[in-house]
Amino acid sequence: MASYDVIIIGAGPGGYVCAIRCAQLGLKTAVVEGRETLGGTCLNVGCIPSKALLHASHMLHEAEHNFAAMGLKGAAPKVDWKQMLAYKTDTIGQNTKGIEFLFKKNKIDWLKGWGSIPAAGQVKVGDDIHTAKTVIIASGSEPSSLPGVEVDEKVIVTSTGALELPKVPKTMVVIGAGVIGLELGSVYARLGASVTVIEYLDAVTPGMDGEVQKTFQRILKKQGLDFVMGAAVQKAEAQKTKARVTYKLRKDDSEHGIDADVVLVATGRKPYTTGLGLDALGVQMTKRGQIAVDAHWQTNVKGIYAIGDCIEGPMLAHKAEDEGMAVAEVVAGRHGHVNYGVIPGVIYTHPEVANVGKTEEQLKEQGRAYKVGKFSFMGNGRAKANFAGDGFVKILADRETDRILGCHIIGPAAGDLIHEVCVAMEFGASAEDLALTCHAHPTYSEAVREAALACGDGPIHS
Ligand code: NAI
Repeated sequence: MASYDVIIIGAGPGGYVCAIRCAQLGLKTAVVEGRETLGGTCLNVGCIPSKALLHASHMLHEAEHNFAAMGLKGAAPKVDWKQMLAYKTDTIGQNTKGIEFLFKKNKIDWLKGWGSIPAAGQVKVGDDIHTAKTVIIASGSEPSSLPGVEVDEKVIVTSTGALELPKVPKTMVVIGAGVIGLELGSVYARLGASVTVIEYLDAVTPGMDGEVQKTFQRILKKQGLDFVMGAAVQKAEAQKTKARVTYKLRKDDSEHGIDADVVLVATGRKPYTTGLGLDALGVQMTKRGQIAVDAHWQTNVKGIYAIGDCIEGPMLAHKAEDEGMAVAEVVAGRHGHVNYGVIPGVIYTHPEVANVGKTEEQLKEQGRAYKVGKFSFMGNGRAKANFAGDGFVKILADRETDRILGCHIIGPAAGDLIHEVCVAMEFGASAEDLALTCHAHPTYSEAVREAALACGDGPIHS
């Protein structure tokens, strides 16, 4: 039993970043984490391992599709699945050990076990009750369940099981054309599985810019993914070695079935707050099961704060990290700030998809007067050289003031390119500000500048 300034529950990107900032600000800090390793879902069974598999499978795709044209001849590499999983596991290990090192460096205590909050100012881990002036909940999220679908993490899997399959399946059904479904669906499609994505809505990646959605789905189809759109999955049943998925088409209510070696359920995530004792404490929750917080991330119980996936907002690691840093500042008596209007979203398929700010659909709904500047990667020399001409950059700017309101990119390195627009938006920049900024040639980022030029007198290369 020990006494701290701050105890954080959960060592995911929200919790561990918060802990480091708390320690940097001079607060005596501990983190409660029940997993064997630090880093939460993101490092252990989410962002990082999926990126390793996306990278490896993309390399294979390049070898199979583009090497010969570049004069790189020879047999395409064969997939050694065991080695690919080992590479993924090694990547996880390097990252989680890195956090452990940072904890030691910053003198942060890792309280191993699952924590609960018996009273404000107390955190129970195992039989020990530790005390803290401030408790910050960063307990994250878990896959949400789907009625009629029983996950066994073998044949019917969530993203966690999909990162540990014993072999590459011949056939895979993905339920949900959201971020997880399309990232992991692409991995297995590239590795040779025949992948069918079943989606309730009529477009992939809900909430994304409509034009991007259409282009994205077209490109994925070209890569071999099949789509059943407007279909509600009713049930998925594991049989001996396969599973049968039953769905109903929304347009005519007709029922259909499809078999697959593996079914990936990717229909969203929900806040994970089980076992924290929030009910007994009287911590207020939202209707959607999130912990309700005020503008300073404090719950209705004084001294208890919450950040990341377990509160409102996009379930994104970097949103949690930003909240983690900001709440640390608040707890240390300083000013913490998160600009929720400028949080980028990235899908790490190939090509990547990235967005920030408003979509055209949102601007229309708000009745805002806006202009669109669009530029295709076909007009970008670097993209052409790299077989990466599919996609575009689209900048939305206020029609009167030219202030950038949003940006949507589908194309090479979109997840990196988006950040110059994020910085521009943070500074309240106009499209012209971007257009007048010198961009090195030849880079993909020239496409961003051209889209900014397209908001004014027009791009050069189209
Ligand atoms: P999602 O919310 O992105 O997509 C779920 C999809 O499933 C939706 O399109 C929905 O219409 C569909 N769906 C729901 N019920 C259905 C049914 N019965 N039949 C057919 N379709 C159905 O959720 P996803 O992909 O599981 O991701 C969860 C969270 O994790 C998201 O908040 C996402 O932002 C985050 N994440 C972010 C990543 C990134 O930033 N690159 C990577 C992975 C996850």
